[in-house]
Amino acid sequence: MASSLTAAYPWTTSPLVSCAPMRLIANASLATAVSIAGGLGFIGAGSDINTLSSELSKSRDILNKAKLSTNTGVLPIGVGFLIWGAPLADTLAILSKPENIPAAVWLFAPRHPNQLKDWADGVRKASSNKTKIWIQVTSVREALEATKLASPDVLVVQGTDAGGHGAAQGAGIISLVPETIDAVTEFCDSSSSTPLPFFVAAGGISEGRGAAASICLGAQGVCLGTRYLAANEATIASGYRDAVLRASDGGSTTIRSSVYDQLRGTTEWPAGYGGRGVLNASYRDHEAGVSFEDNKKLYDDAVASGDKGWEGEKARLTTYAGTGIGLVKSIMSAEAITREVRQDASKILSGAPASRL
Ligand SMILES: Cc1cc2nc3c(=O)[nH]c(=O)nc-3n(C[C@H](O)[C@H](O)[C@H](O)COP(=O)(O)O)c2cc1C
Repeated sequence: MASSLTAAYPWTTSPLVSCAPMRLIANASLATAVSIAGGLGFIGAGSDINTLSSELSKSRDILNKAKLSTNTGVLPIGVGFLIWGAPLADTLAILSKPENIPAAVWLFAPRHPNQLKDWADGVRKASSNKTKIWIQVTSVREALEATKLASPDVLVVQGTDAGGHGAAQGAGIISLVPETIDAVTEFCDSSSSTPLPFFVAAGGISEGRGAAASICLGAQGVCLGTRYLAANEATIASGYRDAVLRASDGGSTTIRSSVYDQLRGTTEWPAGYGGRGVLNASYRDHEAGVSFEDNKKLYDDAVASGDKGWEGEKARLTTYAGTGIGLVKSIMSAEAITREVRQDASKILSGAPASRL
């Protein structure tokens, strides 16, 4: 086990800023840009590995051009999987190729907790222990379960403010992170075989103040999703990105629900998860009792209308984003976001006033 989180990823600078493996959105260009800026970028493979080989190949090209190498035989990026759906054996066949071995694999949302062990064991074996295991958890119970079953190198502690999928019922990171750290530390202290993982906070962190607060809560690093939706390198429709930039006051303008999954047909998620996104006409109609068939028809019409489906009071397209949406103010490069968040957090942690820097 490395002496610090950043020591495990030698190209990174403390405090570690990572980009969430957002399915379809975090591809090679976003993940590599975050790593090039001294963070750790994750490609979001999700449950589907059809484009994984080509995204890894694109990543290698970008990293070679940037002359970013780890000298340890791993690619300085990670890949995230939704393990309720991603095929383990086929994934390992890709990740075990010497040119593809990522620095980290991120596991989220098992259909059964034992899947965590199968994936962690499989990835460690396929990479000869070179790939670190990150597991995203949404509660103290899940954190203990993941630690006991899979001995992760990193636990990503996801609070309920997070954009995209998370626990339908959950706590914010201000209580979840320290309680999780205490419980996992107590378990690891009493176990002779389970080293203490590093902790990364996720959910509602959009800039340096949230990142600094997470470090004060005991995390060694932070993971941002929503903020990177406004990165130049994100693979995202302009209507979606504009909706993120327009929104503010995310506690009242976003909602965690399964309505958007139903309308999009992404209903394979295990029970207990919901997706947080901008609260729009699709959700309002669902709450008002509009039938699923009618709501779906309106949704499909909105899909056909393209970027207009994200505009104004009638917006109804899915806009997964977290409560930190109001702190996302402008489109920036992923490198600039990564450096800004890290540097602002460092300034605050070294005693500078915690106003917007
Ligand atoms: C648009 C979007 C897509 C996401 N997709 C995934 C995913 O495919 N896999 C995953 O593990 N987490 C996914 N997440 C959740 C992130 O891992 C992370 O917990 C979250 O983005 C952190 O909160 P924040 O959005 O407030 O920064 C997604 C988040 C967003 C906003």
